[in-house]
Amino acid sequence: MTVTIVGSQLGDEGKGGVVDLYGDAADVVARYQGGDNAGHTVVHDGTKYKLSLVPSGAVRGKIGVLGNGCVVNPETLFDEIDTLRERGLEPDVRVAERAHVILPYHRALDGIEEAEKEDLAAGTTKRGIGPTYEDKAGRRGVRIGDLLDPDVLRERLEYVVPQKKALAEEVFEKETGEEFDIDHLYETYREYGERLADEEMTVDCGTFLQERVDIGESVMLEGAQGTSLDIDHGVYPYVTSSNPTAGGATVGTGLGPTVIGDGEVIGIVKAYLSRVGTGPLPTELGGVEDQTPDYHGDVDAAADEEELATYIRDEGGEYGTVTGRPRRVGWLDMPMLRHAARANGFTGLAVNHIDVLAGLETVEVGHSYEFDGEEIFTMPPTTEQWARCEATFESFDGWPEVDWAAVAAEGYEAIPENAQTYLEYIADELDTPVYAVGVGPGREETIVVENPYE
Ligand code: IMP
Repeated sequence: MTVTIVGSQLGDEGKGGVVDLYGDAADVVARYQGGDNAGHTVVHDGTKYKLSLVPSGAVRGKIGVLGNGCVVNPETLFDEIDTLRERGLEPDVRVAERAHVILPYHRALDGIEEAEKEDLAAGTTKRGIGPTYEDKAGRRGVRIGDLLDPDVLRERLEYVVPQKKALAEEVFEKETGEEFDIDHLYETYREYGERLADEEMTVDCGTFLQERVDIGESVMLEGAQGTSLDIDHGVYPYVTSSNPTAGGATVGTGLGPTVIGDGEVIGIVKAYLSRVGTGPLPTELGGVEDQTPDYHGDVDAAADEEELATYIRDEGGEYGTVTGRPRRVGWLDMPMLRHAARANGFTGLAVNHIDVLAGLETVEVGHSYEFDGEEIFTMPPTTEQWARCEATFESFDGWPEVDWAAVAAEGYEAIPENAQTYLEYIADELDTPVYAVGVGPGREETIVVENPYE
């Protein structure tokens, strides 16, 4: 049986806690897209581990797989594995031979192109994600399997590196160093290949996972980022370069769509919005586009919004795990969630961070958009159209600050009534049941209503 975990918004919905909790019942946790752009924090036996590539399940003794849909920076991979080992863990991490390798020139070009793009810059994590997927689609990439075969590695580098060097030097007029040097890259990456082979880390991902499914093991498929950052279904071009949506789980692992569809697809929803990076955000609080209502009935609404944004940002710890950047914040956006529910076919929802909104008098939700004079209920296909959407808000009575640890221990019925009304509204609108509710950052603070593995 498989359970696929997908972010329904803009990443950072608190997927980690849910993966961690439901992952207890899983034997294998596999990532199907993205790379070391995906910061996640795992707390295990009182110790905090900040990871960006290794699947969180590997901290808890599960097999962690990086699927063929991932882009893998071996330096980050081994740094994270070595750090975990120094702290006494023995992570079992496998990497798909079909996964693509992030090379130093990808990182360099990510930075160069972001600077060049100005208004079109996505505000990337500068981990080389986009340039690596570009090379994958351009059929000039280097795959993990190529690192195991020095002749193939050399051949690939000799073809691609001069092009990348010319791009950096001649098109972008930048000086280049050893990140564009074939011999240096060959030696370094050949060694990574040797280590991957010595530690028997590489797998034929689809076959490996299917065998697990066939013997009755439980597999969790973990998406990074979120639906609105999906290269096809997100707010292009302010997106990442892969498919976090559930379809990515099949393409990015080699398990068939019927296998994934036979299991559950859980959408992770944060009770409000946050976003790193650029692009429109119709329900943004304190942003440039002041579209949110004057909920305090105050003439100085903009200042209030700024204050509210700061409050939510601080309460929610809305600062990037990988980059430390403060995130933009906004109210929940239902058209975004309806779009996500359809694109992913959610069978259940986990709604996180309702504790962060506690203490507010009123909680607003962007229920629909006004778009060119019409009311619409889902996201329009282009980002320029989305930027023209004005959110129409619905107000919910706020809920009090309570002892959330006690609420978590007691279960769903202990959640303050107004917060339950809010949760039921989300479930009704998306026609999808709530499987879990996050009332704090730790896994003990997640209330499980339904366990998909049971
Ligand atoms: P990239 O994935 O580094 O190319 O960045 C592309 C866009 O995705 C940028 O707007 C990033 O801020 C965003 N992004 C990438 N990874 C994450 C993540 O793990 N959480 C939230 N946003 C992300």
